[in-house]
Amino acid sequence: MNFLLLNGPNLNLLGKREPHIYGNQSLDEIVQALKKQARKAGVKLEHLQSNAEYELIDAIHGAMENCDFIIINPGAFTHTSVALRDALLGADLPFIEVHLSNVHAREAFRQHSFLSDIAKGVICGFGAQGYEFALQAAITHCHNDS
Ligand code: DQA
Repeated sequence: MNFLLLNGPNLNLLGKREPHIYGNQSLDEIVQALKKQARKAGVKLEHLQSNAEYELIDAIHGAMENCDFIIINPGAFTHTSVALRDALLGADLPFIEVHLSNVHAREAFRQHSFLSDIAKGVICGFGAQGYEFALQAAITHCHNDS
């Protein structure tokens, strides 16, 4: 199985950026742990972090070739991007939306997502552990599908 993990803008700053909200782990530490978890389950996990919307969109288009599942933390694009929504609709791949913070307990503008209603599910508020939960859920989803 091939999964794609996408992280949007400013997530390259994890560990340094508002640690009281996003935690102390760097993105690299999070991704390395996820790759290990994926390997144990026989899943190949590709990762891209980008601050550019078009790069995330291109990666979603590319996933149409050989990807079974997308896990995405779209960062602030969650709340702004019709283009990411359209890319995910176009690719027609199952995906889980992840947020480290509980966006529903924060500013009003973070409480709307352009992606949640088309996602398989949404995980938020569990910090970096949310990615682990998403990966496990994606693995279970793909096993149940085959
Ligand atoms: C975030 C929440 C977004 O509102 C914010 O813009 C981010 C990170 C999270 O993981 O909690 O960049 O997606």
